Amino acid sequence: MSANLATVSYIGATILFILSLGGLSHPETSRRGNLYGMIGMAIAVIATFLGPRVTSGGYAWIVIALLVGASVGLYAAKKVKMTEMPELVAMMHSFVGLAAALVGFASYVDPSVQLDGASKTIHEIEVYVGILIGAVTFSGSLIAFGKLNGKISGKPVMLPGRHWLNLALLVIVIVFGYGFIQAENTNAGMIPLIVMTVVALAFGVHMVMAIGGADMPVVVSMLNSYSGWAASATGFMLNNDLLIVTGALVGSSGAILSYIMCRAMNRQFLSVIAGGFGAAPVKAAAGDAAQPEGEVTPISAAETAELLREAKSVVIVPGYGMAVAQAQHTVNDIASRLRAKGCNVRFAIHPVAGRMPGHMNVLLAEAKVPYDIVLEMDEINEDFPETDVVMVIGANDIVNPAAEDDPGSPIAGMPVLQVWKAHTSIVMKRSMASGYAGVDNPLFYKDNNRMLFGDAKKMLDEVLAALEI
Ligand code: TAP
Repeated sequence: MSANLATVSYIGATILFILSLGGLSHPETSRRGNLYGMIGMAIAVIATFLGPRVTSGGYAWIVIALLVGASVGLYAAKKVKMTEMPELVAMMHSFVGLAAALVGFASYVDPSVQLDGASKTIHEIEVYVGILIGAVTFSGSLIAFGKLNGKISGKPVMLPGRHWLNLALLVIVIVFGYGFIQAENTNAGMIPLIVMTVVALAFGVHMVMAIGGADMPVVVSMLNSYSGWAASATGFMLNNDLLIVTGALVGSSGAILSYIMCRAMNRQFLSVIAGGFGAAPVKAAAGDAAQPEGEVTPISAAETAELLREAKSVVIVPGYGMAVAQAQHTVNDIASRLRAKGCNVRFAIHPVAGRMPGHMNVLLAEAKVPYDIVLEMDEINEDFPETDVVMVIGANDIVNPAAEDDPGSPIAGMPVLQVWKAHTSIVMKRSMASGYAGVDNPLFYKDNNRMLFGDAKKMLDEVLAALEI
C-alpha cells in the first residue's frame, strides 16, 4: 500500500472514530457508534499492516502479536461478567500505559533513529514524556484494578506530607529530565530514564492509593484520559498521525468525562487528584460522621406488590446490586406490568450508580426499558415528593441522605437521589451492609422506608409473581 493510500485510510479511520464517539453519546445510537469504531479500527490495523512502514520481515511478528492480542481480548470479553467490566477497563488502561512506556524505551535505543540538533532534542522529550505518562497510567490503573475488584481496600491511604512527597517526585522528574536531554549517548541517558520511570510508577501508585472509594468514578475516567494521552505520546514517538489523533480523542473525551463526574459528585477535580476524599470527613475530624439510629421496618415481597398495585406513580432507582443480581429483566417486566395498568413508572439514574459511567443505562437498555422513561438525577429529583413508591434496587450510596444532612460524612456534598421525600421508599438489598463508600445509610431507618431483604433478582421475581395473582 502506498504512503498516500495509508494516509487516506488513516483519515477515514479518524472520521469513523469521531462518528463513533458521537454515536456513543446516546443509548439509541450507541450500537451504531460501536460499529463505526470497529470498522475504523479494522481500517487502521489493515492500513498500518499493509502500509509503507512495515517491511516484509515484520509480517510474521505482527501476525503473532495480533493472534495473541485478539485471543486474550476475545477470551476476556466472553468471560468477563458485566459486574467485572470496570476492572477489565482499568486493566486495559494499564496495557495502554505499559505499551507507551515500552515503545518509549524501544524508540530511544532504536539504532535506525539517527537524529541530531533540535530534532534529536524533540524526539528525546517525546520519549521522556511518553514514558512518564505511560508509567503513571500503568501503575495507577493496576491499583485502580485492585480497588475496583476489592483486592485493595477502597479506603484512601494517605502518607504523611503526601503533597510534599508529590512535589519532590515532580522535582526529581524535572531534574532527571534535564540530565536525560543533556546525556551524550543512549547509555548515559538510560540512567535518568530508568530513575524517572521508577518515580513515575511510584507516583501512579501513590496517586490512586490516596483516592477514597466514593471518588473512584473520577479516577476511572481520569485514567481513561491518561491512557489516551499515553497513546498519543506513542504516536509522537512512532511518527504515527493516527495514534496521535486517536489518543487525543480518548484523552480529551476522558478529561471531559472526569469533569462531568466531578460535577456530578460536587468535587473539585484537583482536590480529587490530591486525594483523601472518601474516608476522612471534609470538615469534621475522622469518626465524627453521625451513626444512624432507630429501627428498620422490613417488608415482604407480597406487601411490596400490594403497595405497587395501589401506586399511581413509581420511581425505580437501580444501583450496583441490580447489576450483581442481574435483575434488570425482571425490573423491566414489573415496570411494563405497572405501566399497562396506567401507573406512571420512571427510572432515576444517578451519574455514579454502579461501577462505571453509564453502567445502569447499559443494563436497562439490555433489558429493553424504553429510553423515554429513564431519567437523569437532575431531571427527576424534584418529583420525589409527588411519588407514591420508590423502589431502590441494590443501590446505597447514591440514595444516602447523609450526603446532604451530615457535614461529617465522607460523602458530604455529593448530590444524591432524594428518595426519602417520596411517600414510601422500599430498599431492596441483602443485608444492612454499607455500599462502595463504606458509609452507613440513615435512609434505612426513616419512618417511610421499608427494607425488602434478599437477592434483588429473587425478591423481584417474587414481587412480579405476587403482582400477577
Ligand atoms: P453501592 O453504594 O455500592 O451499593 C450497592 C448495594 O447493593 C450494596 O449496599 C449491597 O448491599 C447491594 N447488593 C449487592 N449485591 C446485591 C444483590 N445480589 N441483591 C441485592 N442487593 C445487592 O452502589 P450504588 O448505590 O450504585 O453507588 C455506586 C457507588 O460506587 C458510589 O459510591 C460510587 O462512587 C462508587 N463507584 C462508582 C463508579 C462509577 S463510574 N459508577 C466507579 C467506582 C465506584 P447488600 O450487600 O446488603 O446486599
